[in-house]
Amino acid sequence: MMSAFGELIINRVPLAKKEMLQAFDQADLLALDYLQSEALLNPSSNVLVVNEAFGAITCATTKALCALGGALPTLWSDSHIAHLGLQYNASANGLPVAHFVQAQNTPQGPFQIVILRLPKSHALLRDQLQRMLPQLAPGALIIMPLMVKHLDNAVYQLLESLLGPLTTSLARKKARLIFAKNNSMMLGQSPKAEETHWSLPSLGLCLQHFSGVFSRTKLDPGAQVLLDQFPEGPYMQVIDLGCGNGVQAIMAAKKWPQCKVIGVDESYMAVASASINAINNSVEDQCEFRANDCLTDIISQSADLILCNPPFHQERVIGDQIAMRMFAQSAQVLTNEGELWVVGNRHLGYHAKLKRWFKRVEQVSAHPKFVVLKAQL
Ligand SMILES: C[S@@+](CC[C@H](N)C(=O)[O-])C[C@H]1O[C@@H](n2cnc3c(N)ncnc32)[C@H](O)[C@@H]1O
Repeated sequence: MMSAFGELIINRVPLAKKEMLQAFDQADLLALDYLQSEALLNPSSNVLVVNEAFGAITCATTKALCALGGALPTLWSDSHIAHLGLQYNASANGLPVAHFVQAQNTPQGPFQIVILRLPKSHALLRDQLQRMLPQLAPGALIIMPLMVKHLDNAVYQLLESLLGPLTTSLARKKARLIFAKNNSMMLGQSPKAEETHWSLPSLGLCLQHFSGVFSRTKLDPGAQVLLDQFPEGPYMQVIDLGCGNGVQAIMAAKKWPQCKVIGVDESYMAVASASINAINNSVEDQCEFRANDCLTDIISQSADLILCNPPFHQERVIGDQIAMRMFAQSAQVLTNEGELWVVGNRHLGYHAKLKRWFKRVEQVSAHPKFVVLKAQL
């Protein structure tokens, strides 16, 4: 990446043999140009970067601040993959790793400069802004780099309602910066992270959600179909792959009191919510939730059941790449007799795709919109 602060190696993680997508975009470069041309960084700058995907801005500002003898910036994010990206890219450039704060916690200011990549979820954005504002130094500048196609009225209005008057830069290569500078922002006590709750009385479950958690306002219809067609068992070692609020993991722990369940998700807020939900539903002794990229570092042939309601996008990138990695890694992690149960939209064609790794793939449910598939080696 040729940035205003010099050339940097910035990769997406996990590394792919043939990577088609870049780990940074024109909006990142525009923000770095602005920081440099306005000479905004100095040895006492306390910089907060929010929600960036692979650490491009954080690494570039780390480089600039180190050269000035300043303090390391902080990256605040809900994504474990972003954390891995920051670590990988800092090391690839011989840079110290910036501070990292998981999204359910609040970074402690005062920050003079915030570079905020807008998340897709408005709930997460609102929650982050409400907790961030009290952590800003008086006169702090918030720079929001974005690709023009991602700016809609609803998000602009939300930003104005929380940040006051906004200004924008000229567009360059379809990227633009939005600025907020409000002298009334003061350091003070931040509110707690926003939570939503709902329950499933028929299953006796109550579930809590931090703002970035999938299906934070109601049960996902795909998750409902899998709960309705839950495997019979019994099983001893269960994995909930992409666990979200932990609903499938908790259901498994309740159904098979002798089993151990690991729930993994790349969202820190999901892992934190699932851990709280296990306690609130009295299955915490059976369940362990971890921030993980798919099944990386989970022992081979260790699970006899994997439950999976796969994601169909990573932030704004839509596709089944993550689902495919989840299926491939499941084939490694299952015992010879183990079963992968997947729920997905019928049109996604998971049945044929699973056959790349599994000899037997059987359709378990006949819901008009969703299929539940059982795959065995
Ligand atoms: C469709 S949701 C399913 C959530 C929950 N299991 C349910 O049934 O409601 C998919 C989940 O996969 C998670 N996810 C996305 N990419 C991931 C990755 N690389 N590794 C682990 N989890 C991931 C998302 O954060 C999300 O919580």
